[in-house]
Amino acid sequence: MQGKVIEVKDAWREGAHVDDSKYREMYAASVADPNAFWAEHGKRIDWMTPFSTVKNTSFEPGKVSIKWFEDGKTNVAHNCIDRHLETRGDQTAIIWEGDNPDESKHITYRELHAQVCRMANVLRNRGVGKGDRVTLYMPMIPEAAYAMLACARLGAIHAIVFGGFSPDSLASRIQGCGSKLVITADEGLRGGRKVPLKANVDEAIKRLDADLVDHVIVVRRTGGSVSMEAGRDVYYDEAAEQVTDECPAVAVEAEHPLFILYTSGSTGQPKGVVHTTGGYLVYASMTHEYVFDYREGDVYWCTADVGWVTGHSYIVYGPLANGATTLMFEGIPTYPSTSRFWEVIDKHKVNIFYTAPTAIRSLMGGGEGPVKKTSRASLRVLGSVGEPINPEAWEWYYNVVGDKRCSIVDTWWQTETGGILITPLPGATALKPGSATRPFFGVTPEMVDAEGKVLEGACEGNLCIADSWPGQMRTVYGDHERFEQTYFSTYPGKYFTGDGARRDADGYYWITGRVDDVINVSGHRMGTAEVESSLVAHPKVAEAAVVGYPHNVKGQGIYAYVTLNDGEEGDDALRKELVTWVRKDIGPIASPDLIQFAPGLPKTRSGKIMRRILRKIAEDDFSSLGDTSTLAEPAVVDDLIENRQNRA
Ligand code: WT7
Repeated sequence: MQGKVIEVKDAWREGAHVDDSKYREMYAASVADPNAFWAEHGKRIDWMTPFSTVKNTSFEPGKVSIKWFEDGKTNVAHNCIDRHLETRGDQTAIIWEGDNPDESKHITYRELHAQVCRMANVLRNRGVGKGDRVTLYMPMIPEAAYAMLACARLGAIHAIVFGGFSPDSLASRIQGCGSKLVITADEGLRGGRKVPLKANVDEAIKRLDADLVDHVIVVRRTGGSVSMEAGRDVYYDEAAEQVTDECPAVAVEAEHPLFILYTSGSTGQPKGVVHTTGGYLVYASMTHEYVFDYREGDVYWCTADVGWVTGHSYIVYGPLANGATTLMFEGIPTYPSTSRFWEVIDKHKVNIFYTAPTAIRSLMGGGEGPVKKTSRASLRVLGSVGEPINPEAWEWYYNVVGDKRCSIVDTWWQTETGGILITPLPGATALKPGSATRPFFGVTPEMVDAEGKVLEGACEGNLCIADSWPGQMRTVYGDHERFEQTYFSTYPGKYFTGDGARRDADGYYWITGRVDDVINVSGHRMGTAEVESSLVAHPKVAEAAVVGYPHNVKGQGIYAYVTLNDGEEGDDALRKELVTWVRKDIGPIASPDLIQFAPGLPKTRSGKIMRRILRKIAEDDFSSLGDTSTLAEPAVVDDLIENRQNRA
């Protein structure tokens, strides 16, 4: 259970931000006196009005309130751009690597400033100001970062919707936050295939109240033809010609919202996670610097999409606040070949690389050849995020990709946490393959049992965080009660993460995965309830129950049990039809991997579906189903086992 230990190498220690004793000293100080610790580190960003108060937070039931640096004023775009102009105006801020390996470009901080100001002026001319919501539905092109920073510059709140979501999902997110303006592109380009972004926006808007969306700004990416509605739609390049490249950054309160990002939970529709300005930026930039041991001049690459929180905190805000060179990649790991990641690393001399276990596992399948034909000599730190990394994938990342030379940081965090909470620090933390290791400064993990009793020492339980940190989400957009209910009611007085974990004798954390009805497919979060409600909306479906099951590459796959209406026949054609239905309804990431047609589902006498049993059958482990005698119809279990889709 302790696992294998990889000691800190001298090479990692050289020039590193902290060593083990410095980590311990800083960590102890951060939790002993959070006000003093964050008062000092809050100064890592520029303040237009300095703060005089630091932490003002409560996790108390009914009174949950989270405020940091409350009376300070600042602007995120100023911190990510303007303050660097004097010292590094000509340094590259963004390296953009296109889907096509022949396409890439460097954008300096000075160019970034001009581009963001232009975009901000285009928005301002269309009535966007402080507090207005703007929805972004963008491919991975520099304009996505310009748009985020342009909103921040004006004090507007961006709400990015991942380009893989369907028109329906996009519509409900535009509606949810009441955006009057949408920024998109004609088409996206991934792995040589086009993604009809503008057409999806048109579809989404048709589903909304006619007077909600006033403006759609369309960045030309592929030049593909799209329909443009006069008076509503405008091409970005044409609008940008009409404005200047100077636009003042608006000073906003530390607690002014920076962005909303929708994420799945165990029940209901996705929630709008709200992150604010001051604390978020302090936390994102500080974690970026320490966790990746970022050093002046490094080239840093995070392979996430800006549609997810990782893209917000660790492609755009954290790195740019630190004056880093951040690489933005439009493509996929397997196009034009499975060497693409490693070729990009060599092409741009990447020092720090941050990706997801699912990508590592899928590339592992192709063997060492595609990796070993590249040099990767520039690499120093390798990061992992999104799901537990199994020790086999960890070892491959360490031995094959990193040539046993690079430090690995397995970073555990969530959309809600704004930044990394549990992670090794290069040069300071001895590594154990599969463990996210120790808490970052100011983070107070607590393990509790099902009854909420706090566990001490080595243990296994549910992971909570006892007290606030500056990057924490502040509320669910428009529904503070749901915020309290979701995160602070299970174990009153604590933030409940929804994850299970083990803590070993060295105090290292091993995240075991979600303990609620959220599944993690290729590092993307999906609520089983969302997939279920999509399935039951199909005219032939009477009832559906969805669970996760172990999947070699994706981490978890989606297993759906479907009961059809009387007289309907469950066959492969209908399976295909249901998969297409869910893809269209939610997006490709929600596609069920396995569908089992079930005449009945295991229910208690009061009609509650027993998911524990369904999970076990989906895992192909029905030796330990537990007591089934309390079921309304125990016989349905035999049928479910007999017809299971996941036979080993
Ligand atoms: C869930 C959060 C945070 C950015 C990406 C995902 C799982 C995340 C790890 C890790 C084990 C991890 C957890 C968490 N998770 N990182 N290093 N080890 N599990 O953000 O979509 O909000 O999902 O991802 O289950 O709760 P998200």
